Amino acid sequence: MTSVPQKTIKAAITAVGGFVPDDILTNFDLEKMVDTSDEWIMSRTGIKERRILKDPSKGTSFLAIEAARDVLSKTDTAPEEIDMLILATITPDMKVAATAAKVATDIGAINAFAFDLQAACSGFLYSMSLAAAKIESGHCNKVLVVGADKMSSIVDYSDRTTCIIFGDGAGAVLMEVSSNSYGWEDDFFRSSGVGQDYLHVKAGGSLFPTSSYTLAKGWESIYQDGKTVFKYAVSEMAAATQKVLERNKLDPEMVDYVIAHQANKRILDATQTRANLNKKKFLTNIEHYGNTTAATLPLLMRDFENQFKIGDKLLFTAFGGGFTWGSALYTWAY
Ligand code: UT7
Repeated sequence: MTSVPQKTIKAAITAVGGFVPDDILTNFDLEKMVDTSDEWIMSRTGIKERRILKDPSKGTSFLAIEAARDVLSKTDTAPEEIDMLILATITPDMKVAATAAKVATDIGAINAFAFDLQAACSGFLYSMSLAAAKIESGHCNKVLVVGADKMSSIVDYSDRTTCIIFGDGAGAVLMEVSSNSYGWEDDFFRSSGVGQDYLHVKAGGSLFPTSSYTLAKGWESIYQDGKTVFKYAVSEMAAATQKVLERNKLDPEMVDYVIAHQANKRILDATQTRANLNKKKFLTNIEHYGNTTAATLPLLMRDFENQFKIGDKLLFTAFGGGFTWGSALYTWAY
């Protein structure tokens, strides 16, 4: 196992923001669309409602730009000062032309280089780790990390196994050189191609380009084998959090907050039990937004930011399509 990195420069989150569209899709709305019930959805997932970007003329960039502007409005940072912008997403505006480039240009980040990162539900955590490394190495001073997904664009609203789970949203953080000794401490990431069979949008890529056949098969929509994904998610998130705690010589009790990907309330409960983490420390907002893929972690931080105090230990964890997963240890810096 690699050791905990010794850092002379630390990267810190200095502002958090987010955006969700106004339109709400409740469990009761879904009851009218597919054979399901509020009771089933609540007991199996903990989700009550999700937000949907209904305007067909707007893509993920719209959500990302709103979240990025929200972050910038909370700082003294001018957009021209941003060195790098990473957009974690699985629903880019277009297959070619990085959505991140559009976001950077629209917010006025004219000195940034920008790219999309596709690691599904782990995308935001992977992106924060890369941002931290670029800052720690001295290559960047200020990085905007955005997680945004218009999941409604790849959900089949006649498939009750997926349409109840996902929602649209965006969140973002500004990361920069820490002005104190707090910030990004350590992380652990892994991935496994076995996940391709269990969670995917099969068509629209180079293997199965969109055709009348793929459309007829419904391969442009998200598919998941929920039970298998559930098992992998729990065991890998629990193992990753334990690894990070172990090598930083921390007991689970020393963690102040767990910021875990909001995939399913039962996954969170099972991960908490398996990793021996305190339930009260798990923050959740899945009830209101569902699974917003790359946006769940920053939206959680946005919703609970007022509770965080300088020096608080945050333990991040995520799991997503690929499979991709990991955990990170972070000390709140403001
Ligand atoms: O973000 C990372 C990726 N995603 C995840 O982490 C999600 C992981 N998986 C899950 O969250 C859960 O597996 C689900 C919420 C998707 C499903 O919950 P489950 O407890 O694993 O249910 P199941 O798939 O085992 O289905 C149980 C039953 C089935 O009926 P039978 O075969 O027992 O008669 C399903 O057909 O529930 C049925 N079912 C539903 N019933 C009412 C499936 N979806 C629904 C529904 N409403 N929406």
